Amino acid sequence: MTTPPSIPFNRPEVAGRELELVGEAITGGHTSSGGPFSKQAGALIQGATDAGEVLLTTSCTSALELSAMLLDLGPYDTVVVPSFTFTTSALAFARQGAKLLFCDVERDTLGLDPRHLAELLDDSVRAVVIVHYAGIACDVDGIRGVLADRPDVVIVEDAAHGLHGAFRDEKLGSIGRFASLSFHETKNFSCGEGGALLLNDPADVDRARVLYDKGTDRQAFFMGQVDKYSWRDTGSSFGMSDVLAAYLTGQLEVADHIQARRRAVWEGYAAALAPHADRLGLTLPGVREGAAPAWHLFHVLLPRADARRAVMDDLRSEGIATTFHYVPLHDSEGGRRFARRETDCPVTVDASSRLVRLPFFNTLTPDEVSRVATSFVAAVERHG
Ligand SMILES: Cc1ncc(COP(=O)(O)O)c(C=O)c1O
Repeated sequence: MTTPPSIPFNRPEVAGRELELVGEAITGGHTSSGGPFSKQAGALIQGATDAGEVLLTTSCTSALELSAMLLDLGPYDTVVVPSFTFTTSALAFARQGAKLLFCDVERDTLGLDPRHLAELLDDSVRAVVIVHYAGIACDVDGIRGVLADRPDVVIVEDAAHGLHGAFRDEKLGSIGRFASLSFHETKNFSCGEGGALLLNDPADVDRARVLYDKGTDRQAFFMGQVDKYSWRDTGSSFGMSDVLAAYLTGQLEVADHIQARRRAVWEGYAAALAPHADRLGLTLPGVREGAAPAWHLFHVLLPRADARRAVMDDLRSEGIATTFHYVPLHDSEGGRRFARRETDCPVTVDASSRLVRLPFFNTLTPDEVSRVATSFVAAVERHG
């Protein structure tokens, strides 16, 4: 009997003109940031998010760092961050000197829980980071409701998973005063490593351009607004190379194709697993009414945490790569070091221990989706 080919967790796809455009970027002579492909990619992102201004960055992490710099945070300021997220949604604010308060997530979407946020909110809170886990909108209405009397509290939207998702008529990435995107290898649209900061308040644009460009007013100089450029403020070198922007442009140009493929994978898993969910005690991703997912990843919560290792090992022995995801930040060494005080995040602890992510990439075929689902169900039947 022949062994079926293995199914990796992720496989980057050349989906459009990426190779041709990268060649053009190199031979065209402008390979640093701010070149013609940065403008093209920026315009495509602006169209997909309704963002006021798009700054392409070296990563989502650096976009979050730029937002933290723009907030001028200090040691008396607190930033509320979900415990269930990637480290840099928190780290970016800690390294600017702010203290963190870790907030639990709601069971359904694993997005920030507005009820816990209401308990944590005090006068020191300057910003709240929200994440649309898996590209599915968090409880935007609930969070806005809690912040209704606190217009001074800034929403930073970590939309690393969210490009092309929406909540009702609002695009993900247009909800926070600042929003960040990721173009890391595993994301829907990738250039290897990359990101963007979206500015949704015009008042932030001029200063953001200075901080983005090594603390100088170089962008104002290129736009003819000043006759020479010089050092003006703090900042760093945040710009994405135009070679990577060309790669990204090649992906963004075929967004409809990429999103349709990913949607088919997501819906294929959901259809194959739903009939087994009650019997096996599986929790499939929750999509709140009005949310249009970005089809970033597919996760399942197992009935028991102690079954996860065996389920994942069984799949690996059949050539299928799965992973778990975030380790609770409030309970990590860094989280404890930078927290203003300890908080309890029981849903995060529970979900994080039972979560498995299935292989998810554009070129996963319907047969592969069904093979993964069948093997997964069988492994849960054995160990769940
Ligand atoms: C929610 C979230 N924010 C930020 C990041 C960091 O993205 P990047 O690798 O582009 O810095 C990730 C990484 O996957 C993420 O999941």
